[in-house]
Amino acid sequence: MHNVLLLGSGGREHALAWKLRQSKRLNKLCIAPGNPGTASLGENVDIAINDFETLKQLALDKKITMLVVGPEDPLVNGITDFFNNDPDLAHIAVIGPNKRGAQLEGSKDVAKAFMKRYGIPTARYQTFTAETINKGYAFLESLEPPYVLKADGLAAGKGVLIIDDISEAELQLHDMLNGKFGDAGKKVVIEEFLRGIELSVFILTDGESYKILPEAKDYKRIGDHDTGLNTGGMGAVSPVPFATAPFMQKVEERIIIPTIKGLQNENIMYCGFIFIGLMNVGGNPYVVEYNVRMGDPETEAVMPRLDGDLVDLFEGVSRHTLHEKTCKINDRTALTVVCASEGYPEAYRKGMDITGLDSVTDSLVFQSGTAMKDGQLVTAGGRVLAVTSLGHSIDEAQKTSYAGMKHIKYNGKYHRTDIGADLSRYTENSSAHD
Ligand code: AMP
Ligand code: GLY
Repeated sequence: MHNVLLLGSGGREHALAWKLRQSKRLNKLCIAPGNPGTASLGENVDIAINDFETLKQLALDKKITMLVVGPEDPLVNGITDFFNNDPDLAHIAVIGPNKRGAQLEGSKDVAKAFMKRYGIPTARYQTFTAETINKGYAFLESLEPPYVLKADGLAAGKGVLIIDDISEAELQLHDMLNGKFGDAGKKVVIEEFLRGIELSVFILTDGESYKILPEAKDYKRIGDHDTGLNTGGMGAVSPVPFATAPFMQKVEERIIIPTIKGLQNENIMYCGFIFIGLMNVGGNPYVVEYNVRMGDPETEAVMPRLDGDLVDLFEGVSRHTLHEKTCKINDRTALTVVCASEGYPEAYRKGMDITGLDSVTDSLVFQSGTAMKDGQLVTAGGRVLAVTSLGHSIDEAQKTSYAGMKHIKYNGKYHRTDIGADLSRYTENSSAHD
């Protein structure tokens, strides 16, 4: 039996807590800091995710035996090393890579160099600093538009710019290298634009073997039909029709296996999730990015498709016996619609009363940007809730999610109305492959 401490406070963590709660191997569940959704599944403890010393005290007080890290920030800051290297904490199983492993997400330059070393398909690129800015301009001139500029470090999801005009791209390169994203932009990766359709692939690994979890498609733009600004993700669907067995075989052979072997070759003992953001370009997968955690809102669609015991899988990760475990996946379709605050991803209001959650009976509602104020659930973030439904088809799951969504009420409620529509129209030869 395990006492689990889960770090984070979003919809991803609510979905992970929901899945952990079902485990026969779970004794106690604490979430730091959690949200009103996770409060119904375990004990929320108001500690910041990067306050390692206070988390240590909590882990000792609550006799924690397993730490599950939701977001990337503490991983990049070295929480895994902090736990593993402290004699009082070293017995705790940590699900999440160490600092070196987390560089796959923490530095785009490190990730691109890693892919290059191991022949993993990705967009052609070069990295520049303030000293080499003129070479950066020349590299931009050598590429076709649109131009893809990426701040090297973590920039809260805002560090990737895709620009049509060359002089605008040059200006942005200049601004990035001159502090637009702070230290995250001290180096800038410029890469070729990949034309295709995106897929999120998730694996869980103990550093030697791995399990491929259900894949998902994320809907990143704020507006219907993929229009408007980029967001953290406005919806998700799993499974994804174009992730056919032959396509996934290419993903495994060309990306997953070389990634695991590469980590081993670099003596990185990677225990945790790897989220491979990839582009399907004409039927071939190319890595757009690695993340060292699960995706949000993808987790809210992936967890309901896992039939096995998550604590048991995590134990396989920490004991390096993952190869002995089975990862059972059900074949239903999960469709998640994110309900946001009007204005997101730009300025939005908070503190709006939320009602109607109890009337949603056929879907799961995962909370992300919510808070309790005087006993009332209120909005507290840009992405407020995620409504997930399971069905025998995309259409069925979509109908259920949108029917459930109607019950939820708050001022400034906004959601996309087309999650899954492109995929339900998808056929082998449709434009999804272009
Ligand atoms: P990232 O933070 O690396 O995931 O980038 C954010 C988003 O920008 C991705 O999800 C893609 O939609 C897009 N993107 C990033 N790199 C490329 C690329 N080389 N070609 C096309 N789109 C890209
Ligand atoms: N939904 C994309 C992410 O979690 O980064």
